[in-house]
Amino acid sequence: MNIINIIEKKRDKKLLNKNEIDFFIKGILDESIADYQTSSLLMAIFLNGLNDEETYYLTKAIIDNGEYINFDGVDSTILDKHSTGGVGDKISLILGPILASMGYKFLKMSGRSLGFTGGTLDKLESIPGFKVNQSDEWIEKTANDLGFFIVSQSENIAKADRILYTLRDVCASVDSIPLIASSILSKKFSFRNDSLLIDVKCGTGAFMESFDKAKELCDAMLNISKAFNRKTTCIISSMNKALGKRAGNNLEIIEVADFLKGNYKDYDDIYDEINHIIYELLLNLENVDYDEVKDSIKRVLDNGEAFEMFLKFVHNQGGDISYIEDINKFDKARYETEILADTSGYLNSYKLKDIAKTLNELGAGRLKKEDKIDYTVGLINEKCIGDKIDKGDLLFTIRSNKELSSEQLANLKASVVYGDKAIKEKHILEVIR
Ligand code: URA
Repeated sequence: MNIINIIEKKRDKKLLNKNEIDFFIKGILDESIADYQTSSLLMAIFLNGLNDEETYYLTKAIIDNGEYINFDGVDSTILDKHSTGGVGDKISLILGPILASMGYKFLKMSGRSLGFTGGTLDKLESIPGFKVNQSDEWIEKTANDLGFFIVSQSENIAKADRILYTLRDVCASVDSIPLIASSILSKKFSFRNDSLLIDVKCGTGAFMESFDKAKELCDAMLNISKAFNRKTTCIISSMNKALGKRAGNNLEIIEVADFLKGNYKDYDDIYDEINHIIYELLLNLENVDYDEVKDSIKRVLDNGEAFEMFLKFVHNQGGDISYIEDINKFDKARYETEILADTSGYLNSYKLKDIAKTLNELGAGRLKKEDKIDYTVGLINEKCIGDKIDKGDLLFTIRSNKELSSEQLANLKASVVYGDKAIKEKHILEVIR
């Protein structure tokens, strides 16, 4: 077997078998296959696709040639969730304390993100002292006692995916459904979980801008999941406005604390999503009633247990909980720039990727791997999609430590999409089981 024949086969639209896919993954790990050959095969896959069976073999080869974590010794239910990434997406930080208060394990290992969406690990690191790198012993102990952590994933989990993703990123082959599906699931299925929810964000601030593309990705992931005998559900949720009211690292931690302190009714989209995610995670395991699940969630929010659990989690990972108890302790950026409505009408959507790119330029995210993040940079939304707007109304505020250039200001103003009719879009667009 050799890689040139494998590339030729995919170039000529033929199917690859399990042995060929295993050979490819082993070859990229032991470096017997050169990067230019890997890139050629990735481009052939990008152009000619993979069927469900090939996608399953690719996912399995990536998992089998990396580290697997079984959480031996954890005897209660482990729930997991993945998001394809969006602006202001702080769902995991709210979901974890609620699930742990309800008696479930939430043992999350995350990768760092690069690009326009914020990373959960960076958000957590905006809490002074918080540590995302923990030892294997610490992970094992915490999995068993507190039952809730969010840590940085070991380099050896789905190691081949890192190589593939880096090459896809620089060779214009990221946007391929089978490659995205196998990339996401090889990481998720390198850990034991009893039920998995994948939140596919869809809209102007998401990787998947169109609903059809989002649905196609869900179908591909559910097919792989079935082949692995895993219990997975996908939701497609809207990302035409930053989730909740705040986006940016320490601003999102402030929002998480506010939500968990009992002010969840101020955040319709987040509350709706949390209720749906927990219901679907539990429905994967047993027959549950939506209203009863919703009541259980409300109970741990109202009686303070979820907030207490968040404090325990932050403390357990070395974070200073006085910041969570008193959110005014967080540093605040020097400048507040108000974006006002240019015209009257209704707010239809935001060109959210453009907004997120400006936030990243101001320091909220990384443009390069080694960039340092400014945790105080972000935005605060004042208006929701569907709201009636009068000229001059405050739409959102940007917080930054650098003054905005006239070009950045013009881009932010141009990112607002006005309409003459109120659009009322649902936040959860579809559930696919
Ligand atoms: N997220 C991943 O983990 N992989 C992809 O290919 C795309 C998004």
